[in-house]
Amino acid sequence: MSSLLQIKNLKTHFETSQGPVKAVDDVSFSIQRDGRLGIVGESGSGKSITALSILRLIASPGKIVGGEILFHSQDTVVDLLKISEPDMRKIRGKKIAMVFQEAMTSFNPVFTIGDQILEVVELHQGLKGQAAWKKVIESLTLVKISDPERVARGYPHELSGGMRQRAMIAMALSCQPDLLIADEPTTALDVTIQAQVLDLLKELQQKMGMALILITHDLGIIAETVDEVLVMKSGKIVESGSVLDIFQKPKHPYTQSLLKSLPVWTV
Ligand SMILES: Nc1ncnc2c1ncn2[C@@H]1O[C@H](COP(=O)(O)OP(=O)(O)OP(=O)(O)O)[C@@H](O)[C@H]1O
Ligand SMILES: [Mg+2]
Repeated sequence: MSSLLQIKNLKTHFETSQGPVKAVDDVSFSIQRDGRLGIVGESGSGKSITALSILRLIASPGKIVGGEILFHSQDTVVDLLKISEPDMRKIRGKKIAMVFQEAMTSFNPVFTIGDQILEVVELHQGLKGQAAWKKVIESLTLVKISDPERVARGYPHELSGGMRQRAMIAMALSCQPDLLIADEPTTALDVTIQAQVLDLLKELQQKMGMALILITHDLGIIAETVDEVLVMKSGKIVESGSVLDIFQKPKHPYTQSLLKSLPVWTV
């Protein structure tokens, strides 16, 4: 299988009154076209900033200060850190989509779910009218929302947390991205709903043949959902490997301590 994304020596820093914070400090990894990669690590270890750097969504006082993000699309390779903002906009949301922790803050409360998905579909797929609306309903059906017409006409606050997160996934997948980055997509949900949303993500990843980067602080979720893992600490990758390797032979003391904090049934 070929590489989809290669990240080389990525560095993202924040200027603060106490000096620079190296949120992402020389991080390199790659993901295959149909790969499932997990990024795990304690709070503040740089997981989200790594994801946001890939999409070039770092706002001041943050800045990507070094590295390459090579994105393989059809038969060309582009460095996402070198292309123009208009070119980046054609990739963001279309080729690389992201789902955040709390869908309530990602959806705009004053527009219906359907209109927000419609906007993405119109922008990236050039569809209009009936054809665009059909795509919206298809996306909601894909994430197993029953009665998608009704949900599409509803507002974000009218949905349960789990449904909102499904609708968020529908929006992210409506353009059939090559890569989906899910940053703690289920942390705000209760455990049963969490498992359903993760199963759905995994199923859709296989069905659509896309790559998935799943960010979580929960090693139990990693074991269930991905094949490869990166363990981050203080902006660096301290360990990487297959899920099996990491669970059976953790090398870094930090990974060992993460594993020790897991309930027994997951290991
Ligand atoms: N706007 C900012 N200004 C200064 N430092 C920041 C800013 N945003 C993030 N950081 C720093 O970057 C580092 C990495 O943050 P990041 O959000 O990537 O952590 P994380 O691993 O996603 O944590 P969590 O599990 O809590 O989501 C942290 O030390 C954080 O304090
Ligand atoms: Mg985070």
